[in-house]
Amino acid sequence: SNPSLLILAGDGIGPEVMTEVRRVIDWYGDKRDLKFDVSEDLVGGAAYDKHGTPLTDETMAKAQAVDAVLLGAVGGPKYDNLDFSVKPERGLLRLRKEMDLFSNLRPAQCFDALADFSSLKRDVVAGLDIVIVRELTSGIYFGEPRGIFKEGNERVGINTQRYTESEIDRVARSAFELARKRGNKVCSMEKANVMESGILWREVVQKVHDEDYPDVELSHMYADAGAMQLCRWPKQFDVIVTDNLFGDLLSDAAAMLTGSLGMLPSASLGAPMANGRPKALYEPVHGSAPDIAGQGKANPIACILSFAMALRYSFDQGDEATRLENAVEKVLADGLRTADLIGEEGVQPVSTREMGDAILAALDES
Ligand code: NAI
Ligand code: MG
Repeated sequence: SNPSLLILAGDGIGPEVMTEVRRVIDWYGDKRDLKFDVSEDLVGGAAYDKHGTPLTDETMAKAQAVDAVLLGAVGGPKYDNLDFSVKPERGLLRLRKEMDLFSNLRPAQCFDALADFSSLKRDVVAGLDIVIVRELTSGIYFGEPRGIFKEGNERVGINTQRYTESEIDRVARSAFELARKRGNKVCSMEKANVMESGILWREVVQKVHDEDYPDVELSHMYADAGAMQLCRWPKQFDVIVTDNLFGDLLSDAAAMLTGSLGMLPSASLGAPMANGRPKALYEPVHGSAPDIAGQGKANPIACILSFAMALRYSFDQGDEATRLENAVEKVLADGLRTADLIGEEGVQPVSTREMGDAILAALDES
């Protein structure tokens, strides 16, 4: 049977960019005989409007059952005053939590045509293609004790960095698996010089490597030095694996090496399912962009590249993922720009649909 995909387009520009992804998915079915069983459902504000909850139990069950979930974006001003328990974001948080998506992949990829858009020098970023793997479900954001406590006559704010061996083990495995589908190189970042959790992190990553992934090149770096190296010469990296806190900072910084929010895909992976594929949710990094929603201005590339990640990491279609990335590269090289990608004056922006049309045309030529 065909691999299954659940599409949750969500709110704001979510449905607009997802419409273009649907056309790309259909193209693969028609032209490459790569067919998916696609179902669609509601999440976020759209689900709240219809069902009074940002994610129904039925939708949750569907997400657990499919090979991959593709999500647009959730949220918007209409929902800002809702009770926290039914806010659109809660739909996304529930998906991440119940699917136990502990491995967050944030690529920093710089298409040559956009290299001048970066704040760094062209030769530092042109052709950059790295992925930061951030542990997403443990570490200092979740460790106990946490809270603001009374201590003598003042208060103290406490968070606890805590990692078990199994938590480090599984995210390390996910990074090594990823590296095998890419440049076969992993750099692990922590602060083993000052943190106990960092010492354990380094030890476990090394052990997983030596036992099960000796073919992958592994190095270790202190996270602060890593931040510096990311800005100095990011092309030295392929896959970076790091904890929740360092990954939060490093992935945001790395993402901005490459330019617009409208270009950035992401993936969140969990444990392997019975068929060997990891539980997976793919989504653009950007939100619902209420300021441009409904105007046909949104850049669909982040969402299209999220589908390319699904092809590579859920469906073992690395060549087809590259075909799609090359199609994106070609339209950019041809000078097509949605409004968010326009730095210089005098360039006319194309619409969401026109960008989708051009990417399909480039696929046809591939
Ligand atoms: P945002 O990412 O929606 O927008 C930030 C800026 O980038 C806006 O000026 C927007 O027009 C622009 N932008 C974003 N994506 C774009 C695209 N594909 N093409 C062209 N321009 C694009 O972040 P913001 O404004 O902070 O949040 C808006 C809403 O989205 C809020 O309700 C927020 O909670 C939600 N949000 C949802 C996320 C998700 O679903 N994962 C992530 C971030 C925010
Ligand atoms: Mg962040």
